[in-house]
Amino acid sequence: AEAAFVESLLAKMTIEEKLGQLNQPRGRWGQTGPQVQEGGEDQIRAGRIGSYLGVHGADYTRRMQRIAVEESRLGIPLLFAHDVIHGFRTIFPVPLGESASFDVDAVERAARIAADEATAAGLHWTYAPMVDIARDPRWGRIVEGSGESAYLGSVLAAARVRGFQGEDLRADDTLMATAKHFVAYGAAEGGRDYNIADISERTLRDVYLPPFKAAADAGVQSMMAAFNEVDGVPMHANGRLIDGVLRDEWGWDGIMVSDYTGVLELIPHGVAANRADAGVLALEAGVDVDMVSDIYVDDLPAVVRAGGLDGAKVDEAVRRVLRAKYRLGLFDDPYRYSDEARERERILRPEYRAAARDVARKSMVLLKNDGDLLPLDRRTGTIAVIGPLADDKRVMLGGWAAAGRAEDAVTPLEGVREAVGPDVRVLHARGADVEGDDRSGFDEAVRIARQADVVLMFIGEHHDMSAEAHNRTTLDLPGVQEALVRAVHATGKPVVAVLFNGRPLSIGWLDGNVPSILEAWFPGIEAGHAIADVLFGDHNPAGRLPVTFPRNVGQIPIYHDHKNTGRPPSEQEKYTSKYIDVPWTPLYAFGHGLSYTTFVYSDLKVGPVENQAQVGTGKPVRVEVTVANTGRRAGDEVVQLYLRDDVASVTRPVKELRGFRRIHLQPGERRRVEFVLEPEALGFHGADGRIVVEPGTFTVFAGGSSDDVIETKFEVR
Ligand code: IFM
Repeated sequence: AEAAFVESLLAKMTIEEKLGQLNQPRGRWGQTGPQVQEGGEDQIRAGRIGSYLGVHGADYTRRMQRIAVEESRLGIPLLFAHDVIHGFRTIFPVPLGESASFDVDAVERAARIAADEATAAGLHWTYAPMVDIARDPRWGRIVEGSGESAYLGSVLAAARVRGFQGEDLRADDTLMATAKHFVAYGAAEGGRDYNIADISERTLRDVYLPPFKAAADAGVQSMMAAFNEVDGVPMHANGRLIDGVLRDEWGWDGIMVSDYTGVLELIPHGVAANRADAGVLALEAGVDVDMVSDIYVDDLPAVVRAGGLDGAKVDEAVRRVLRAKYRLGLFDDPYRYSDEARERERILRPEYRAAARDVARKSMVLLKNDGDLLPLDRRTGTIAVIGPLADDKRVMLGGWAAAGRAEDAVTPLEGVREAVGPDVRVLHARGADVEGDDRSGFDEAVRIARQADVVLMFIGEHHDMSAEAHNRTTLDLPGVQEALVRAVHATGKPVVAVLFNGRPLSIGWLDGNVPSILEAWFPGIEAGHAIADVLFGDHNPAGRLPVTFPRNVGQIPIYHDHKNTGRPPSEQEKYTSKYIDVPWTPLYAFGHGLSYTTFVYSDLKVGPVENQAQVGTGKPVRVEVTVANTGRRAGDEVVQLYLRDDVASVTRPVKELRGFRRIHLQPGERRRVEFVLEPEALGFHGADGRIVVEPGTFTVFAGGSSDDVIETKFEVR
């Protein structure tokens, strides 16, 4: 029925109407709310618009939809798209933070709630999840992804797609997800956004493509082309990877949308001479929807008429857009998402806030906790709360906060005040700004620190420092914040540093001097509550780093699944792969994160799965390990499984994440945790793009961090 419907509609369309379906202008959020561009309503009437970016709100989308459905010749409904990245109004932790939870269900639930709110505000399409693997923390957009691991990135990509799209795209609380940015955007040279990616085909296949494959397998309905080039071909003109890999190899049938003016940008890239050229290149490569450039709708009709572009190629793209509208049920009821009653009822529900608190505290990573300074006693004493981010509502939301509002956020200061008993004194001083060199607040900060039993310092980056086009050449704490911590630390009072940032920071001085460090990322609207839950021990932290923290920016790229080289680093041997000024090891390894209890691993065993005599190529492998909570508190542990192919026909990573499970153990409890490694988990991509598993020995590692594991070997025959 879908195909018949789409074909009959397509047959009625003029070339202008077809290219109109592929056109996506940008709306904006004006003083009075959402607005289409100037003259936009007439353009909708003329059938020149297929979808909008950034227009939402039940009432307004209904009005625009009515124009499309009742006043355009063919009455084709519009799609409303927006960047709903980590929540719509109920803002969850930034994606890198959510990923640190290593909690697949929690991540899926965050996306589900975002979808429920966004659809209630008229949206059909989100530009999330970002599934770009990123190994360069200078790149500002590392905050939007799942970090450095292709495995973690793939598992969470699928979870987020499931969360956004639900079981049934026709349901009125599900929307189309977009896996972005296809592909290798995270490999931007020098960590400079939009820069070229020069990576091998093997790295592309083994590292950057898998999360897109996982999203495609989870049924993602759309993907977004990346701004960068790969191997000399800008992704908006890269037919080999879009039509070739995605569509022909993988059989994916969704919409490829351009990234903003990505089609127009083929001109400065130097592969298109003019707008028409750019449009032809993009459409022929398989980019279906032209966001913001207006090239398809303005420039391509004449090109098609002159025979400069195959009309069949246009039809294919239009089919994909019409199919999406059909799958969303918009031809049955174009207004199903624009429901003001539902909008009032579904947005910022108490249970959504509770979910945001749950994900936020699960995302927090206890980097250091000397002498068990944390958790704190909430009953007596004086607490000094210091730092530029202690009482900043906006920063708590992080970037890309969709319809999030700063006033909804609970700050750390508010959270601490709410959590402590009546006999506790809470003193507060800002101390310094995030950036700049103003030290005039230091004295006040030191003064209150002297009166306190413990000092909580809330420091880090401003929310828009880790963002699109916000790359850094240093990973140090910005401004005079480290100097502020040093001044407070000099009082001799115990200091807990709570960090807000969207990228790894190089915080060697803090690590060497401050007893406790909690990585909070940008936690979302429930920031203050979640932080207090962790600081006072209502929640035992179990978040783990989804990305390696370097000692300094010069160690980049540094990631857990690197290769060995012919001269692996060694302290004794001079001519090995290392530095003369800092150790080769990171400050904090991938997967690192402490708890208020302790876990011990033992009895790691590998075997064939049931009914198999031996581990062989093409067969799954069972791995089991015992994990015991040996401390005095209940807590979650993120059990991590890493793999190494000891000898292969090509070099393989020294240790690569291949499984994880977040489990809860009572004090003294032990559990046998089982993983099944599917055959492809043991392999790598061959020249033809297929996964090859080679016989031989493998090492499997299990532990609570990539640098704290037990290991054993097994042989694949
Ligand atoms: O979805 C985003 C993309 O990630 C960056 N450029 C703009 C798009 C639409 O807002």
